Amino acid sequence: MCGIVGYIGSRQAAPIILDGLSKLEYRGYDSAGMAVFDGEHIQIRKAVGRLKVLENLTHGGETMKGYMGIGHTRWATHGAPNNMNSHPHLNTAQTIAVVHNGIIENYIPLKKKLMDKGYQFVSETDTEVLAHLLDYYYKDNPLEAITKVLHRVEGSYALGILFADHPEEIYAVRKDSPLIAGVSAEGCFIASDVPAILKYTRTVYYVDNQEVVKLGKDGMKFYSVDEEEITKEAVRIDWDADAAEKAGYEHFMLKEMYEQPKTVTDTISPRIRDDKIVIEELKMTDEELAAVKKLHIVACGSAYHAGVTGKYVIEGLARVPVEVDVASEFRYRNPILEEDSLVIVISQSGETADTLAAMRESQARGFKVLGIVNVVGSSIAREADACLYTWAGPEIAVATTKAYSAQLAALYLLAIKLGVVRKTIHEENASELIRDLRRLPDQIELLLGQKGKIQRFANRYVGAKDIFFIGRGIDYAISLEGSLKLKEISYVHSEAYAAGELKHGTISLIEEGTLVVAVSTQPKLYQKMISNIVEVKARGAFVMAVTNEENKAMEKASDYCVYLPETNPYFANSLAIIPLQLFGYYVAVGKGCDVDKPRNLAKSVTVE
Ligand code: AGP
Repeated sequence: MCGIVGYIGSRQAAPIILDGLSKLEYRGYDSAGMAVFDGEHIQIRKAVGRLKVLENLTHGGETMKGYMGIGHTRWATHGAPNNMNSHPHLNTAQTIAVVHNGIIENYIPLKKKLMDKGYQFVSETDTEVLAHLLDYYYKDNPLEAITKVLHRVEGSYALGILFADHPEEIYAVRKDSPLIAGVSAEGCFIASDVPAILKYTRTVYYVDNQEVVKLGKDGMKFYSVDEEEITKEAVRIDWDADAAEKAGYEHFMLKEMYEQPKTVTDTISPRIRDDKIVIEELKMTDEELAAVKKLHIVACGSAYHAGVTGKYVIEGLARVPVEVDVASEFRYRNPILEEDSLVIVISQSGETADTLAAMRESQARGFKVLGIVNVVGSSIAREADACLYTWAGPEIAVATTKAYSAQLAALYLLAIKLGVVRKTIHEENASELIRDLRRLPDQIELLLGQKGKIQRFANRYVGAKDIFFIGRGIDYAISLEGSLKLKEISYVHSEAYAAGELKHGTISLIEEGTLVVAVSTQPKLYQKMISNIVEVKARGAFVMAVTNEENKAMEKASDYCVYLPETNPYFANSLAIIPLQLFGYYVAVGKGCDVDKPRNLAKSVTVE
């Protein structure tokens, strides 16, 4: 998604803005721009392509003198990536500049009204409407003009706004798209995310929906859309700057894969006390939890895949019916939510538009929503009725790994907790499950040690056209995630299939040499999986098996075997995903793909 950075203070603004935007590159973008007030006018520079192009154009910001400015990296939604469409956008008089992350859903009627009043548009974007609308309402009072605009526009937005005749102030607004404000001895900042300003300050404010921030050199004020001043609590960020850097790994993705043992530990440890699962964040008593009759898990992408695993684990351990939905489907299918249902939304970023909307839809119908979220202070984290954080730290690579593994861990905790309060799990096997849970980080570490072996195997498939992932039960869930990891970063077509379903059509695609990755971690299904492997091998497939060390029969049945250490079958996805992540990663590296910033993708999809 787009990235926003703004600064006003005692230092030159442009270099700070460029540095901040570089920390937001992970969000995905195709052009960039800056607006800096030079003491008389608002100077604008824009460039298509990587941020480097803008840096070179402005000599690292040196050619844009001034102490206050805003910058933007654009992930195109309305209009192609080109200089006319990239931000900042200006009113005709070039006295107002706007950068925007989000979508103005009613921009077409607004644009028509403005054109009828004689306004000239130069771009295809929805954002330019904001610049002209601010101009229309502006009578030398920025706050008044902004609040009038907010009452007229619909959609999602994080805005940074400059007014040339108010050079001592920057304004920022937020609705649904993430925005933070920061303060230091050298001035004030706005940004789409913490890493952009962490180098300058650890004191940040999470801007809430429909709040307006007025930043000055020495401090900032917050207002409601009714122009009433409001007070907000500052949050101290305790990440170290490296946490958002690569720490010597070639890619953020590899670094984050290697952080998985820690993120699983950090997610489960605080919630295991005296050999019991304690999840205070649920804000539900054991009785209330035991009274839950059904769970709806709603998410997108990998978070959805974690939800599919969650279904198998929770239904298996706690015998609570679980329905799993893709958020973009859930929100429009008029779902049937029965009494005593609990909705769980899973989201790394906490800003995914569809997941956010699904949560709000559920709350509007009077249902409690539990958020399983990674980004502290994100929209979902703040709006959910309860939030269970996955303590994975900042995840920069577009392809999620450590946050996904932390999501699985959070779901295991929930499943055990539910099982205990519903008495489907007895104390002694709760202890066994907790023991197995605690062993996962070391087992993940062990599997990460196989990266050389996986890399050699992956190098054989950099030219692959189609790769299939198959599994049964919980192994089908992990096949979904393994397939997504491969395709989103290597651009190799891939499909995940319930192994028993393959023969109902898709098996016709298997040709001589087609790679089929067969995940088989469920002892009760070993034999069934071997039958499916025999079926695809009969059609010429080359089979990579991911299975448990005990499953020796797999050695003969498959062509290449990756063995997993022994764990409880319900937790096996946390181990099976490691070789699958490494496989996808090394195929992508072998193809020379931009692993951390794959084409067409964004780290957080904050638009529909
Ligand atoms: C996963 O690797 C992708 N980046 C994508 O599917 C992601 O999981 C999805 O967009 C959901 O994002 P969220 O967890 O931030 O809501």
